[in-house]
Amino acid sequence: MTAPLNFHPLRVQQVQREGEDALVLGFEVPAALQPVFRFEAGQHLTLRATVAGVELRRSYSICAAPGEPLRVGVRAVPGGAFSTWLHAMARPGLVLDVMPPLGRFGAALAQRPRHVLAVAGGSGITPLLAIVKATLQGDARARCTLVYSNRSAASTMFREALEDLKNRYLSRLALHLVFSREGLEAGLQGGRLDAGKISTLLRLAGPVDQAFVCGPHAMNEDVPAALQAAGVPPERIHVERFGVPQQAARNMAAAGPALAVEAARGAAAQASVHRVRIVRDGVARDIGFDAADGNILAAATRAGLELPFSCSSGVCATCRARVLEGQVGMHRNFALEPDDVAAGFVLSCQAHPLSESVLLSFDER
Ligand code: FES
Repeated sequence: MTAPLNFHPLRVQQVQREGEDALVLGFEVPAALQPVFRFEAGQHLTLRATVAGVELRRSYSICAAPGEPLRVGVRAVPGGAFSTWLHAMARPGLVLDVMPPLGRFGAALAQRPRHVLAVAGGSGITPLLAIVKATLQGDARARCTLVYSNRSAASTMFREALEDLKNRYLSRLALHLVFSREGLEAGLQGGRLDAGKISTLLRLAGPVDQAFVCGPHAMNEDVPAALQAAGVPPERIHVERFGVPQQAARNMAAAGPALAVEAARGAAAQASVHRVRIVRDGVARDIGFDAADGNILAAATRAGLELPFSCSSGVCATCRARVLEGQVGMHRNFALEPDDVAAGFVLSCQAHPLSESVLLSFDER
């Protein structure tokens, strides 16, 4: 059982500009909360604030390696309510509601890989900076190949930190900065990171033990496919997504908002009664599942339960829980890896019961 996933007010200690449109926020963690906010490389924090009278939650990746002060990177998203507010308000002393670190993007580092390949695009560098640092700091025999793609040098986040890392680990870090809009088409430094470039890169870099990818939607689809085509086994490729992939979003939009509810209704029709027992912080509560809710998170919220969530879109895994009894289906899943699903984990914001009764635990994460 892990620490309860409640929000805690944390004071912003440091605000630093990164590139032309991003910030790094450093948090002060009181001694009593240090164990709760201990983190692994690749994890994220969910922040909560009320913006123009509406409660908003967003997840941001931690850009520090374990043992370093807690900080996250926040790129300003055009039209994004939370990031725009945060960029306007962020200053030392600001207090934000913060949920303890979550996420398993970097979990494969526990296997102590000797060669890590990290492919980042834009703000996708945030969790990968932590993963690269943790790999290099954690094992003197490990090496990393980091490919970081940006529109231009000006939009590159953590330029200085990356140069520092390169200087510190000269023989163990191969850093390739790629600029898609600076007119360099030849070699690895320019243009799109396509299958040809990935295969050249793998020839140069040598066999990869674990690969981590985080960037725009197209990169998150194309790079894993190219890695697999070049012989990297799928179970060694890990992808972190920040939003719903565009094609999935288009499919949902084309199908209309009723899609999720209809899917749940179809599943619900297979059983006459749905009783969902939810365990959180050692306490069990029974709720009814109404197909109109669409998902178990919504049904629990309707019943007055407070469960952890952030995106509600199947992307962040903040709502992850384990099915201990019964059967559960998911509308979509952009966050859990196949072995998580095989172990019974589901995203409660996407889950609906397929059996008469279901037991779901938020204490096993
Ligand atoms: S709340 Fe983000 S995946 Fe469910």
